[in-house]
Amino acid sequence: MKQTEQLINLENQYGAHNYHPLPVVLDRGEGVYVWDVEGKRYYDFLSAYSAVNQGHCHPKITAALTTQAQQLTLTSRAFYNSKLGIFEQFITRYFGYDKFLPMNTGAEAVETAIKLGRKWGYEHKGIAEDKAKIIVCENNFHGRTTTIVSFSVDPDARTHFGPYTPGFIIIPYNDVDALEKALKENPDVAGFLVEPIQGEAGALVPDDGYLKRCYDLCRKHQVLFIADEIQTGIARTGRLLACDYEDVHPDILILGKALSGGVYPVSGVLSHRVIMDVLRPGQHGSTFGGNPLAAAVAIAALEVVRDERLAENAMELGIYFREEMEKLCNSSKIAKLVRGKGLMNALVINNEGHTNLAWDICLKLAENGLLAKPTHTNIIRFAPPLVMTKAELEACVDIIVQTIHFFEN
Ligand SMILES: Cc1ncc(COP(=O)(O)O)c(C=O)c1O
Repeated sequence: MKQTEQLINLENQYGAHNYHPLPVVLDRGEGVYVWDVEGKRYYDFLSAYSAVNQGHCHPKITAALTTQAQQLTLTSRAFYNSKLGIFEQFITRYFGYDKFLPMNTGAEAVETAIKLGRKWGYEHKGIAEDKAKIIVCENNFHGRTTTIVSFSVDPDARTHFGPYTPGFIIIPYNDVDALEKALKENPDVAGFLVEPIQGEAGALVPDDGYLKRCYDLCRKHQVLFIADEIQTGIARTGRLLACDYEDVHPDILILGKALSGGVYPVSGVLSHRVIMDVLRPGQHGSTFGGNPLAAAVAIAALEVVRDERLAENAMELGIYFREEMEKLCNSSKIAKLVRGKGLMNALVINNEGHTNLAWDICLKLAENGLLAKPTHTNIIRFAPPLVMTKAELEACVDIIVQTIHFFEN
């Protein structure tokens, strides 16, 4: 039995079946490449759902990790540590905020933002106790905790996980009028939580001006604009933040994933003092949040983004990639549409008469040396590490075009 099969069998036998992975077993990564246990090399076009923007095992980030790992890893927040304050100063200046609250996973950071928003609503907006509402959008993806799945519209994410947390109003995405109506009808709204581009929904890009108009409405109604940039942030969309396209500075900014370049779980929220200061000792926390290892890794990861001009590279390569995919769509019955910003893109597949087509295309792409994953049944997400070169991307475009044409015949 091949090693691949053996290792997949182990996961199937001993692991929870909460994912449906492609049948490749990865063993090593470097930059835009990963290798499986049989030694086959692939271009990574998922980047661990945009956590590995800086490329696999970036030497500066892994050096920060190993150096700090030999000095001090975890103190808990029962004591101060020699790295956290430096990280907090660095990240607040980097993104232009007063304060940072570190957590570990994306979902925890979203939960943190919801707690902050609600508490701000009670203590600053004067919302009556237990009445605070958060407005969210249809087809959102903000994580997997019980509160977050309470406002998901995806039956897989929700079903049989109730009872659900109340206090959320779901409106259509990319619909400013729906937001205005919800704000007018509900004076007790504390925040509007939104993904600047909906990632898991399939790189759904809202109309130009959507974020700005939503932000202005939030201002008018004294509601916090809370941006979940866990997937879109940190150079993925061609700007440092996707909100930068519309000069929107969220009241609460949620980050995760690429905050560590995929080397270690680091997430957190940024806000101005008046919002963050609603939290007092004992009201929120995490054993691992803000540990010195995370702090050292995250500083290195953000330095790489800045020093290697990853946003600029994502912007430039993204334009080229979508042009090539548009040509493909024009000459293909299978490839229907490409959409995205920077290097966060998705190809919509015409899967009429072949419901598994997107999955089968991804299997073939893997055979041809490129790893991508469908989201929903007919969308393939394309999100390579942002350290990719033009020549590498050209080679990837060739693989994608040839693979789609294979199914055309
Ligand atoms: C926009 C967004 N928010 C939140 C999350 C949850 O992050 P995590 O899986 O680290 O909890 C994700 C993960 O894909 C995401 O894309």
